[in-house]
Amino acid sequence: MAVPGVGLLTRLHLCTQRRTRVQRPVLRLLSCPGTVAEDLRRDEQPPGSVETGFEDKIPKKRFSEMQNERREQAKRTVLIHCPEKISEKKFLKYLSQHGPINNHFFYESFGLYAVVEFCQKESVHSLQNETCAPSKGIEAAIPFRSRFFNLKLKNQTSERSCVQMSNQLPPSSKKLFQVLCDAESIDDQLNTLLKEFQLTEENTKLRYLTCSLIEDVAAAYFPDCIVRPFGSSVNTFGKLGCDLDMFLDLNETRNLSTHKTSGNFLMEFQVKNVPSERIATQKILSVLGECLDNFSPGCVGVQKILNARCPLVRFSHQASGFQCDLTTNNRIALTSSELLYIYGALDSRVRALVFTVRCWARAHLLTSSIPGAWITNFSLTMMVIFFLQTRSPPVLPTLDSLQTLADAEDKCIIEGNNCTFVRDLNRIKPSENTETLEILLKEFFEYFGNFAFNKNSINIRQGREQNKPDSSPLYIQNPFETSLNISKNVNQSQLQKFVHLAQESTWILQQEDLDGPDTSGNRSWGLVALLLPSGANRKSVGKKKSKKATSEKIKVLLESIKSNRTENFTDTNGKRNVSTQT
Ligand code: GTP
Ligand code: MG
Repeated sequence: MAVPGVGLLTRLHLCTQRRTRVQRPVLRLLSCPGTVAEDLRRDEQPPGSVETGFEDKIPKKRFSEMQNERREQAKRTVLIHCPEKISEKKFLKYLSQHGPINNHFFYESFGLYAVVEFCQKESVHSLQNETCAPSKGIEAAIPFRSRFFNLKLKNQTSERSCVQMSNQLPPSSKKLFQVLCDAESIDDQLNTLLKEFQLTEENTKLRYLTCSLIEDVAAAYFPDCIVRPFGSSVNTFGKLGCDLDMFLDLNETRNLSTHKTSGNFLMEFQVKNVPSERIATQKILSVLGECLDNFSPGCVGVQKILNARCPLVRFSHQASGFQCDLTTNNRIALTSSELLYIYGALDSRVRALVFTVRCWARAHLLTSSIPGAWITNFSLTMMVIFFLQTRSPPVLPTLDSLQTLADAEDKCIIEGNNCTFVRDLNRIKPSENTETLEILLKEFFEYFGNFAFNKNSINIRQGREQNKPDSSPLYIQNPFETSLNISKNVNQSQLQKFVHLAQESTWILQQEDLDGPDTSGNRSWGLVALLLPSGANRKSVGKKKSKKATSEKIKVLLESIKSNRTENFTDTNGKRNVSTQT
């Protein structure tokens, strides 16, 4: 294989920093034709990352296009556990014996790791062919040939560590609060929060690479399988540190017999039959769980959760640091991810608002990583989308209108459910709504602080409130399996907590309007005040609040006397009472 110029490679370390628009020209120098880096040069937009504020100028990729490019990129990529002290220049020179390198970065996760993307897939085979099995120690090694390597130094003392690390973690609360306090406006705060938390280019690459490594393991049983990331890793709403949802797609294997017919004959594979799809799913996942546990390097804490509504295998991928959930027979979730990707890409305000609401909910313990009666991030995202559909003019189109825009190619029925919607982002008209993020955030809290949860449901298909079909405290219609409620798990007390916090947040943002911008530089303002625990908020604004509550009550009393009608303000805190009883 040709050895590219080392001078060029030494410039690669610049790419290990977080990507910014300023750094992209470096990629131009390095891109190989026909690769994702070449596309970056063409589009000035990494696939799968939708930046805010530039939407109108950027050609928008279809979800499937973005996924295919990322997958192809991951197949040319290897993961290497490196010694603590390594010379980046020598490391790259050594690897480039196997072919030109398109991109690389280093990160830390209980050790130093390098992600190296070659320009060609053959380079990976070349590297594998030169790699040896570990020398025998006290323990016996199970032979396994993958794209996950261990690099050792022959001469321990001669190397210096001089690599730059790519950050894979969300900011600390301290740093976050500092950058938020330094922002110029609430709009600026929301956009800053998005920038701090959104998945970086490197983190996205690592997610696709992890799926690709798991696919190699699954391919031992199902040679044509694809392991696809879904959920927040790909729907544009992922925060650094979020889990990695994986879908084992066996469609190719399943469809093989349907199109290979000749004359009067139809040849079918001999297969084992089981009583139901669910049992088939459980068997497949059970075997893969065993396989990951016993043979796949870096997969630890493998749990088979096969009796869940959606059976899954959960494990930690130690090297990447991702908590992974592997499912199969879960195609609708992949389609939901595609729909959210579209909504996230349509308007720059959507992601900023969703990230803020998700962070707000997490800060107030409304969401949790443990399953329970809490609202999930998926439900919160649906609530934000629904709210944005109800604005006048709407910020986002309804799912029904996205269905109307669909063409024959977009037609999609999964298990009898209509999952048709337009996939080409360029065919959706931009919104005429010009409301600021600050207004939208305030209105979001106001809207849900007063929502008639006791009788109405949330429905992004139609973008308007509808009667609840059952007595679940919170009813958010599943967009594709329309008879299901995605928030069925939420109990009355969690809903009430959400409503209470939404009301409190409306109040805090109203105070911002009254107080004006803070000039002292030491007050928690705007988003920071919203993210602080309720107790902390009360402490800082308590005095003003009681004054405000009294004046509110007097105002209301006067008005009710004037109009001779009873107002619905009975709360001692001066808040409007909202019934959330079913
Ligand atoms: P994170 O909390 O950041 O992981 O968000 P997420 O969107 O990835 O949520 P999660 O990991 O819980 O679920 C992954 C995906 O599964 C979601 O994005 C949805 O597509 C789908 N999903 C999750 N919960 C439900 C549900 O209750 N009903 C349906 N139909 N799909 C769900
Ligand atoms: Mg997830």
